[in-house]
Amino acid sequence: MKFLSGIVDELERFLSKQAYSSVFVLTDANTNKHCLPKVESVLKKFGAHVFNLSAGEITKNIDTCISIWEDLNRLGADRSSILINLGGGMITDLGGFVATTYKRGIDYLNIPTSMLAMVDASSGGKNGINLGALKNQVGTITSPTDVFIVPSFLNTLDRRNYLSGFAEAVKHGFLNDVNQLKRSYNFVEFRLGDEFTDFLKTNVSIKQIIVAMDPFEKAERKMLNFGHTIGHAVESLTANSANPLLHGEAVAWGMAAELFLSVSMYGFPQHLMTEYVDFLRHNFEAPLLQINDIQSLMELMRQDKKNRGGQIRFSLLRDVGTFVYDAVPDEKAIGDAVAFMLEAGL
Ligand SMILES: NC(=O)c1ccc[n+]([C@@H]2O[C@H](COP(=O)([O-])OP(=O)(O)OC[C@H]3O[C@@H](n4cnc5c(N)ncnc54)[C@H](O)[C@@H]3O)[C@@H](O)[C@H]2O)c1
Repeated sequence: MKFLSGIVDELERFLSKQAYSSVFVLTDANTNKHCLPKVESVLKKFGAHVFNLSAGEITKNIDTCISIWEDLNRLGADRSSILINLGGGMITDLGGFVATTYKRGIDYLNIPTSMLAMVDASSGGKNGINLGALKNQVGTITSPTDVFIVPSFLNTLDRRNYLSGFAEAVKHGFLNDVNQLKRSYNFVEFRLGDEFTDFLKTNVSIKQIIVAMDPFEKAERKMLNFGHTIGHAVESLTANSANPLLHGEAVAWGMAAELFLSVSMYGFPQHLMTEYVDFLRHNFEAPLLQINDIQSLMELMRQDKKNRGGQIRFSLLRDVGTFVYDAVPDEKAIGDAVAFMLEAGL
């Protein structure tokens, strides 16, 4: 993994050194417009072919993969070809899946362009696609050949998408230590510079340390799902509303509810929860949900991938950096936590 202020030289070095038989690039409409021009000169030298997809989570499906696999075949891609994923988490997830399955796996390079992809989706090796409405149901765990993080790509990312990725960075703070948690609050406004790059580096290393402990999510890696059990339910329920929340926005609210559970079940320090909820209310879009949506949220949680034997499972905290995975609160406690979250957002 490399953090770069400019990408042209490093990409040229990388492609020259590896002598790939052919180079393919995946973009979506936005990264094609804003990010591709910054690497186009190098890509032209290597005769790269660009696949440009429609932007949005709706593209992350098997039909898109089939069409790319067929195009790769038609264009003569072989085991020595490489796929470069230039985009947010939708592109790195889908491109990683296409690459690790095409001819049983070709190299792929992630160049994340969104905050979420920089701090989270581009590393750790999880790739995948959605199966209808079910998120990330089909995928692989295979790490990219390399990851190039160029913070200046964030200059063209809109505020809501920045915040969505920033929420995962705050999550990393909760999983690490109080200093990192408090430090993360300072980056709620995007500002390029050495301090910001250092913040990204720390975030990626927090994720890498947890992934290295448990690459296949049997134990500690489950903690990266902190905020996600309730967050995914909020994301799904708002998906068809007038104001759908982005993934990280929903996780940010999910963390409020799961902190409430952490306080009530494991004695997590209440003042840190209160501080976080204040921060959330001031900076994030609230879910436009009502107290009578609790039952629908519970129903969605019952379908969560992490459940076992019909029990809804959570990744909670005893303290900042002290984990409890596979927690099974009773349904009343979950309902109280969701009510707390909804009231905080009202
Ligand atoms: N594999 C993992 O470990 C992991 C972890 C977290 C999330 N994810 C996945 O990541 C996805 C969400 O990621 P995301 O928020 O990056 O979504 P995304 O890729 O859809 O990007 C969000 C929006 O920002 C635009 N965009 C990206 N970079 C831009 C730039 N530099 N300038 C202007 N616009 C830009 C995109 O075109 C899109 O419209 C979800 O599919 C989620 O499941 C994966």
